Amino acid sequence: MKLHLNPFPTLNTDRLILRRITIEDAQDFFEIRSNKDLMAALDKEPFKNMDELLDFLNQIETGIRLNESIAWAVCIKGNNKMIGHVGFHRIDFVNHRAEIGYALLPQFHNSGLGSESLRAIIDVAFNQFRFHSLEANINPTNQPSIKLITKMGFIKEAHFRENYFFRNTFLDSAIYSLLKKEYLRTQLY
Ligand SMILES: CC(C)(COP(=O)(O)OP(=O)(O)OC[C@H]1O[C@@H](n2cnc3c(N)ncnc32)[C@H](O)[C@@H]1OP(=O)(O)O)[C@@H](O)C(=O)NCCC(=O)NCCS
Repeated sequence: MKLHLNPFPTLNTDRLILRRITIEDAQDFFEIRSNKDLMAALDKEPFKNMDELLDFLNQIETGIRLNESIAWAVCIKGNNKMIGHVGFHRIDFVNHRAEIGYALLPQFHNSGLGSESLRAIIDVAFNQFRFHSLEANINPTNQPSIKLITKMGFIKEAHFRENYFFRNTFLDSAIYSLLKKEYLRTQLY
C-alpha cells in the first residue's frame, strides 16, 4: 500500500477540524509538547525549548512530504488554535498496519473531543488509506487512553513486560489493535 498525502486530507467532524500542522502552530504545539502531565502520559520528556519543537515539526513535515507518516492538528471549529494532535506513525506498509497516536491538552479532556478525533482518522485509515489493521501502544497504567481506545473498538492483543526504558525504569507496554473488518462491522449499525 501507499499513502497519498498530497493534497493533505483535512478532516471535518461536528466540532473539530483536523488539518495540517504548520509553522504558525509552533507556539501552540510547544504548549502541547511541553505540558508535563500530557507528556507523562506518553512516557516522554517534555520539550524544553523551541528548537526541539521545530525538529519534531520538521520530522512530521518530512513524513508527510515523503508519504511515510501523517499527523493532524486538532482544532475546534471557528478557532485556529491547535489543541492537540493525532496521527499515524511507524507505518508498516508491507502489512498495511500503522500505530495510532493521540494527545489533547488537558483542559480539553472529558468533552468527547478525543473520541471525535479518533473516529475521524480511523475512518480515513480504513476507507481511504487502505490499512488492514491499526495498533495502539499504551502504558497499561494510562486509563484514559485505554478507555478511549477500547471505546473505539480496539482489543488488547499483547502485553510486553518492561520493554520500554524511561527515566531509569523499565515500563510495560500494552498493545491494542483494530482490524478493518471489525471496524466495518461496527459501521453497519
Ligand atoms: C487519551 C485522551 C486523548 C482521551 O481524551 P478524553 O477527552 O479523555 O476522551 P474523550 O474525548 O473520549 O472523553 C472521555 C469522556 O468525556 C466525556 N464525553 C464524551 N463525549 C462527550 C460529549 N460529547 N460531551 C461531553 N462529555 C463527553 C465522557 O465522560 C467520556 O467518557 P465515556 O467514554 O465514559 O463516555 C486524553 O486523555 C489525552 O490526551 N491524554 C494524554 C495523552 C495520551 O495519553 N495519549 C495516548 C498515549 S497512548
